Amino acid sequence: MSAGTDNLPPRAAVSQMATGYWVSQAVRAMAVLSLADHLASGPRTAADLAEATGAHAPSLARLLRALVALGLCGREATERFRLTPLGGALRSDVPDSARSFVLFFTAPWFERGWEELPHAVRTGEPTFPRVHGAGFWDYLGAHPEDGALFDAAMSEGASARAEALRAVRDLSSIGTVVDVGGGQGRLLAGLLEATPGLSGVLLDRPEVVAGAEAVLRAAGVADRCAVVGGDFFASVPPGGDAYVLAQIVHDWPDAEALAILSACHRAMAPGARLWVIEQVLPPEDDPDPSERAGLTLMDLNMLVLFGGGQQRTGEEYRQLLGAAGFDEVAVVPAEGTPWSVVEAVRR
Ligand SMILES: C[S@@+](CC[C@H](N)C(=O)[O-])C[C@H]1O[C@@H](n2cnc3c(N)ncnc32)[C@H](O)[C@@H]1O
Repeated sequence: MSAGTDNLPPRAAVSQMATGYWVSQAVRAMAVLSLADHLASGPRTAADLAEATGAHAPSLARLLRALVALGLCGREATERFRLTPLGGALRSDVPDSARSFVLFFTAPWFERGWEELPHAVRTGEPTFPRVHGAGFWDYLGAHPEDGALFDAAMSEGASARAEALRAVRDLSSIGTVVDVGGGQGRLLAGLLEATPGLSGVLLDRPEVVAGAEAVLRAAGVADRCAVVGGDFFASVPPGGDAYVLAQIVHDWPDAEALAILSACHRAMAPGARLWVIEQVLPPEDDPDPSERAGLTLMDLNMLVLFGGGQQRTGEEYRQLLGAAGFDEVAVVPAEGTPWSVVEAVRR
């Protein structure tokens, strides 16, 4: 990720960084108004789109002009606006949609934690609970609409995580895979769809797995998948040949991360494999720090939400898994993706 400021003088570059949220809010407006869905069947004028979305036509024309400048829409000679491939990612009906992800990360209730980032840096405390009076998972449980949006945002990226795992590991010899904190089952569905004969067990919070049946049924794998509503600190289903923890460990400080890994270790039989799927931080002596920009910002996101939840280096994952009793830990990057699989075997 680059901030896109390389050729600007310092004042202009810093100003552009500081107004980066203008871009995210313009993208949000496009998603909230469902402009990509309205443009999916072909180019339309601003007036036509205003009528379809109930928007103020001159202001919508100004938004569209900005979206053209950002490359999300194009403008035809006929004054009609069309969707570009970039803007197409905001359609709600495409398999690689980013619409829920955009709506979640730009939601005012979510951004309020980020507004308090200086406090998090001063104290090390997560700011999401400070502004909402509840930890992130409890907040989602108490606000079902926001919880559903988070689950949908996670599901949008889950197929890519399944692909990354399949790119580096052959699942054909695995009988049962247990996805611990597997959301609504999109990642597991990706593994089961691609691997006939594989069975799955999905564990997540009860209010999350309530939506899993529909996901698994739509993928045609519901008959090969058991769904468990529970708490991964209390217990993890036994009997799997492989256990997946995708984007779980980074949500937690070391003590809780260790407790989750230890719960998996207790549930696993000797010979079972653990696959931790995460975006692994490169070491500090990496030659190009700008390559780390996206990950270091994700790390701040973890600070805001969870305090000690954090992105970790391969070495830090090795130490955590070792402390939980795993050995032969290998960090395997899935080339061409942001994901790595940290693999360990239960002895
Ligand atoms: C960042 S999401 C990752 C979801 C999924 N693994 C993926 O890769 O898309 C973290 C998941 O952990 C689940 N979770 C949080 N606390 C949990 C708990 N105590 N027991 C079970 N699941 C929990 C959340 O509900 C959420 O689905």
